[in-house]
Amino acid sequence: MSIFILGIESSCDDTAAAVLKDNKVLANIIAGQDVHKKFGGVVPELASRAHQQNIVPVVDVALKTAGIEKIQLNAVAFTRGPGLLGSLLVGISFSKAFAMGLGIPIIEADHLKAHILSHFIESEKEGYRPPSFPFLCLTVSGGHTQIVVVKSHHEFEIIGRTLDDAAGEAFDKAAKIMGLPYPGGPVIDKLAKEGNDMAFRFPKPEVPSLNFSFSGIKTSFLYLVRDHLAKDNQFIEKNKTGLAASIQRTIIEVLMEKLKQASEKTGIREIAIAGGVSANSALRENLTEVGKKNGWQVHIPEFSYSTDNAAMIAMAGYFKYLNHDFAGQDVTPYARSKD
Ligand code: KG4
Ligand code: ZN
Repeated sequence: MSIFILGIESSCDDTAAAVLKDNKVLANIIAGQDVHKKFGGVVPELASRAHQQNIVPVVDVALKTAGIEKIQLNAVAFTRGPGLLGSLLVGISFSKAFAMGLGIPIIEADHLKAHILSHFIESEKEGYRPPSFPFLCLTVSGGHTQIVVVKSHHEFEIIGRTLDDAAGEAFDKAAKIMGLPYPGGPVIDKLAKEGNDMAFRFPKPEVPSLNFSFSGIKTSFLYLVRDHLAKDNQFIEKNKTGLAASIQRTIIEVLMEKLKQASEKTGIREIAIAGGVSANSALRENLTEVGKKNGWQVHIPEFSYSTDNAAMIAMAGYFKYLNHDFAGQDVTPYARSKD
């Protein structure tokens, strides 16, 4: 018998709901929040309020798109953390009440593990097959940068993480310095396509082991722009594409160097990427190329499952459902990862 899971994601500034029938997506709905645009970043209070306005219509559209009645649902899975507490609370409270009304269980999902598990969502892509265990996943989002050994749908070992900023944050901060809109990652990705990626050089961090650091790159980007602006106030305008391409190249080189080291150290050649930054076109190309050279089996998520979405939360919920791993009505959100 098929299992129908409603997934709810509200960890940051996207209110998302999805319906999965086993590992197939029937609906994947996302309402973004334009309210943050003029602030150049997410304002937690406004995010929480916008989630409250969006959640009921988003779930309604998801169920209608899926073409199912809510009584057909077997469980509701929601993001418990990490994320903004006020935002998470909206998704959690909704899930508890909605599931209680239907008399079905609730399932908590970890946002970062769900990004990884999005690789198990059935894809229409030709030749698709899910990663086999164990595989390495480079999880790169706005708040996290990790290399994870994924041993099963339930076992994750973090073998590298950022000591300061996340890769997505480095994209976003570089964009902010250039006066570009938030989130900066997609804007830099687009500009970089037109630019010379060797136009500017930024020192790469010397971080031991498989850990990352991006704050130094951000600072050297800031100083370079500031120093040039002192001599030419049109510097950014004249060098937008070169700056974007150069900072993007640097960030990708750092990510790929550590990923290569992780593969050598663990002997694992089944390699995946996940999280918002995995939407980056240059990272995708680079990984495909390096993968070919190193004999890796590479797994790149579809664009709709790279950035935040609720299909990945429902997918994570599905695996827990099979294990009867349900949450109690007393479950509370967490802002930071427990491990
Ligand atoms: O996973 P995600 O949607 O949200 C978090 O869990 O944080 O990741 C958002 C991050 C932002 O920093 C955004 O700038 C970045 O992903 N991002 C990108 C691209 N699309 C989104 N970074 C580089 N290139 C992109 N195409
Ligand atoms: Zn995310």
